[in-house]
Amino acid sequence: MAKTIIEPFRIKSVEPLHFTTRQQREQILETAFFNPFLIHADDVLIDLLTDSGTSAMSSRQWAAMMEGDESYAGSKSFYRFEAAVKKITGMQYIIPTHQGRASEKIVFTLTGGKGRYFLSNTLFDTTRANIEFSGATGIDLLTEAGKQPSVPAPFKGNIDLDLLEKTIVEKGAAHIAMCIITITNNSGGGQPVSMENIRAASRICKKHGVAFFIDACRFAENCYFIKQREEGYASKSIQEIANELFSYADGCTMSAKKDAFANIGGFLALNDEILTQECRNLLVITEGFPTYGGLAGRDLEAIAVGLEEIMDEHYLKYRIRSMEYIGEKLEAEGIPFVKPVGGHAIYLDARAFLPHIPVHQYPGLALSNALYLEGGIRSVEIGSLMFGKYSADGALVPAQMELVRLAVPRRVYTQSHIDYVAEIIIDVFTKRQEIRGYEIVYEAPLLRHFTAKLRPVD
Ligand code: F0G
Repeated sequence: MAKTIIEPFRIKSVEPLHFTTRQQREQILETAFFNPFLIHADDVLIDLLTDSGTSAMSSRQWAAMMEGDESYAGSKSFYRFEAAVKKITGMQYIIPTHQGRASEKIVFTLTGGKGRYFLSNTLFDTTRANIEFSGATGIDLLTEAGKQPSVPAPFKGNIDLDLLEKTIVEKGAAHIAMCIITITNNSGGGQPVSMENIRAASRICKKHGVAFFIDACRFAENCYFIKQREEGYASKSIQEIANELFSYADGCTMSAKKDAFANIGGFLALNDEILTQECRNLLVITEGFPTYGGLAGRDLEAIAVGLEEIMDEHYLKYRIRSMEYIGEKLEAEGIPFVKPVGGHAIYLDARAFLPHIPVHQYPGLALSNALYLEGGIRSVEIGSLMFGKYSADGALVPAQMELVRLAVPRRVYTQSHIDYVAEIIIDVFTKRQEIRGYEIVYEAPLLRHFTAKLRPVD
């Protein structure tokens, strides 16, 4: 029997790639103030900046979009969408939003505020920003294993259960807005969280009367890892695993731009009627009427179909295998990356890759820019540029890890694109001594990595 796991689709519509020379890329990077977020997408050959909103939609999704009902209130597309979300989450109240962070903004505005705490395995950047913007504090309680990039473990996204309980007691349950577990753990290497960990975290929260939420962006990838790695789940379907996982939660926030194959969209799913009512009140003034929430009817259709398609095990097998494939190529060359490979991305360990660049010169950004210069590949720094803070005396408080994420859009690139990416990473690794660090010349107070301007350090 053939061993190769193939892309479980064929291609009906194609987009040309844009090639540039190294000399052009040097100019482009300078014009973008050495910040990959400021590069025009047309100047990128392989865009691994994000897996968010970048999926290729299926012919079924495009067909469903033509069925989109654009009625302001009570659109049939909403009811289709609502049924698809309920089938997975089992939650009672479903609120569409234009993307994940809109869900966060609404529910965190209502549950957050000064003196409140949000506990998590690791909060994603926009999630943390929405918490802090409300005046509350976000606390990451990742398990020790998750902090060791080079040491493999099956569920490095787990929350530290002892720390969770200790923190609840220390801060006082009444001051905890919620515990929110990110699946898979995007800022910590795209690592999965086990069912056992979710069940136990939920139990601790229940015991103390703390709400338990899931940041569900990549729920299907997480469920596939559970199926593969956790005892008792091998013969369960992804839908069954998802149903159990969400049954432990009081609510979830979701960006449909990830595990729903949509280019835009998100939702909040809740069980609490009063919180739902309050969320809908906010929704009406920020996103729109509760049956469209900032989306067109056709977007709701695309999400409904995408949620079904994402649970296809042929797809998930290919998805996770294609990530492992790139990991094997890098491993063979001794390139440092977060192990095992995550569900949606490979995370290079920039601190180990470029030990000669100190953290205050942003080794992650230096590596990301080197990949662009070498091969036109765009990636994103997940390190001290994204998460660094300043102490009272103005010194940089670095992030826990200095990572470079190469996120793979869903159903977009083929195996030869991935081969090319691995070759460029290997080329850059061979020349790593030539890479220099950067300093910031402009930064915004929140989410500074999006708009920061930098210059190379001599
Ligand atoms: N939570 C997680 C874990 C995410 O990865 C993201 C987005 C969000 C929430 C917010 O969702 O973008 O729809 O508002 N992550 C993207 C990324 C942007 O590149 O990882 P959104």
